[in-house]
Amino acid sequence: MATMESLIGLVNRIQRACTVLGDHGGEGSSLWEALPSVAVVGGQSSGKSSVLESIVGRDFLPRGSGIVTRRPLVLQLHKLERAQAEYAEFLHAPRKKFTDFASVRREISDETDRITGKSKQISNVPIHLSIYSPHVVNLTLIDLPGMTKVAVEGQPDSIVEDIDNMVRSYVEKPNCIILAISPANQDIATSDAIKLAREVDPSGERTFGVLTKLDLMDKGTNALDVLEGRAYRLQHPWVGIVNRSQADINKNVDMIDARRKEQEYFATSPDYGHLAHKMGSEYLAKLLSQHLESVIRSRIPSIIALINKTISELEAELDRLGRPIGVDAGAQLYTILEMCRAFDRVFKEHLD
Ligand code: GDP
Ligand code: NA
Ligand code: MG
Repeated sequence: MATMESLIGLVNRIQRACTVLGDHGGEGSSLWEALPSVAVVGGQSSGKSSVLESIVGRDFLPRGSGIVTRRPLVLQLHKLERAQAEYAEFLHAPRKKFTDFASVRREISDETDRITGKSKQISNVPIHLSIYSPHVVNLTLIDLPGMTKVAVEGQPDSIVEDIDNMVRSYVEKPNCIILAISPANQDIATSDAIKLAREVDPSGERTFGVLTKLDLMDKGTNALDVLEGRAYRLQHPWVGIVNRSQADINKNVDMIDARRKEQEYFATSPDYGHLAHKMGSEYLAKLLSQHLESVIRSRIPSIIALINKTISELEAELDRLGRPIGVDAGAQLYTILEMCRAFDRVFKEHLD
């Protein structure tokens, strides 16, 4: 019997297979949409990319002030069972293994520019990145452009609405888990992330509230009202985070040190000491992974049904192409069909 963790691994592999097949989770796609994923949403500079990097434990995202994330980044984390060297792979460059994470960052910016030009334009076309590492939990996370209220120089006026529509197209899906990022140094009542989450998930069952920048609050104030669920109630507990500051990033403070400092911050804080074991990015990653596992487990029957639907569709497509298949496309379909059949068997084992 496979473990729970390998269930998420399985879903990750199906999502990858779907992607190769051209099912990018966009309009009308079936299997991808049925599988849960986690979208990171919030206002510009609220700390979205920083939270993602802390969850991965690696520095690999382009950053800076203003609109840096201009295409959705679908990030699949695959936990390696053995102590192997970690590496990253892009869907658009399938045969290239990246072992240097600074070059992953460069590739994300280059690939962003390839579609959007060097302008501050955005594009709905996602970048797909997989990270294989013994240090990650199995998760699919989607980094999205930050919500904003005004267009800046060089951007069309429609950008505010374009970003809003893009973010919505992800979080409206019932299988999307919303990682709603709000900075602690702004009034929670004005949080873009919470406003959107409240609209698309009024019961709060698929929203995880994350409060960043706790270290930047005015002296003498604290965020206990939010963290203890009094300011805005969600079904899942709020998680407080202290990411690296811009000064830390400029000084190249590494992620391991940053995580240690974050833990120390909570453990020694007079305000948050009693919550320390439920705070920080490591805890957030575990919380999300556990939640994802239970969601997947509860959906196994419908996932099996969808896999079978996909198998039928693939078989029909193969019949249409005519067998035996000599062309690449057919061979690829056939491989994915075989994979679906294997998934079907494994998921059925998890039913008992
Ligand atoms: P994004 O635009 O939402 O992706 O935000 P980023 O993750 O790029 O962060 C924007 C800026 O805020 C960067 O300079 C970060 O270093 C800084 N920042 C993010 N989170 C924190 C935090 O918890 N504490 C401090 N001091 N700075 C943070
Ligand atoms: Na930013
Ligand atoms: Mg960002």
